[in-house]
Amino acid sequence: MRLRGRKGIREGLEQQEDLVVLNPEQYKGKWQERFDNDLPIHVEFGMGKGRFVSQMSVKHPNVNYIGFDMYDELVRRASEKTRIAWEEAERGEPTTIQLARANIEKIEEVFAPGEIERIYLNFSDPWPKKKHGRRRLTHPRFLEMYCKLLNARGEIHFKTDSETLFEFSLNSFADYGLQMTNLSLNLHRDGINEEHVMTEYEAKFMGKGMNIHRCEVLIGEEVLREYQVMRLDKY
Ligand SMILES: C[S@@+](CC[C@H](N)C(=O)[O-])C[C@H]1O[C@@H](n2cnc3c(N)ncnc32)[C@H](O)[C@@H]1O
Repeated sequence: MRLRGRKGIREGLEQQEDLVVLNPEQYKGKWQERFDNDLPIHVEFGMGKGRFVSQMSVKHPNVNYIGFDMYDELVRRASEKTRIAWEEAERGEPTTIQLARANIEKIEEVFAPGEIERIYLNFSDPWPKKKHGRRRLTHPRFLEMYCKLLNARGEIHFKTDSETLFEFSLNSFADYGLQMTNLSLNLHRDGINEEHVMTEYEAKFMGKGMNIHRCEVLIGEEVLREYQVMRLDKY
């Protein structure tokens, strides 16, 4: 087994300037320039090893993706996964995806207001102790930041296996005055729901027979307007 020290991992990331961003603050307000296109930007906060964000970037060529994690090693794993996914899909070098190292606590230093269209929160750390509640990525203090950064089509898509985190998050969305829709207490009730790309944690928890909870939160004025017209159509 090849072992890498922390320095080796960092050097490996520094050599991937096309895909990896170690100081994302430098692109605040300039992400579209970095991508060199005007496609919408979707982000995953806490991407882990990057299965979800890399697969999404292959599946949706008309979206720019940025996966964030705070650990170098996870950004490295995600970069490997992304290059393999793009190669397998015969898409060549990854262009519409970036992988960034950042702590979401400081995400307002990374994006300008209205720069993002969608935020994915997949299996965010549940922080089960009450005294750590402020660290949950769905705590109202994070929602306040997300609302500033999302544009008129802004949405949050949230998945978790944790019943307590789901319950906490639904209350947080509601108390912050946000519109939820498409709630599910068991996303794969009727077998694997192919519509949704699976994350590493999702596959692991599914394997253990656990239910996956999911909901969408509508933030931007345009999506809220559309929702008002459509909301009862599915009943
Ligand atoms: C439980 S894992 C889920 C990984 C992946 N989304 C999945 O579903 O397989 C949570 C990830 O979020 C990252 N994370 C937690 N808090 C974070 C923060 N404040 N900023 C950036 N990343 C964070 C962790 O490092 C970890 O990789």
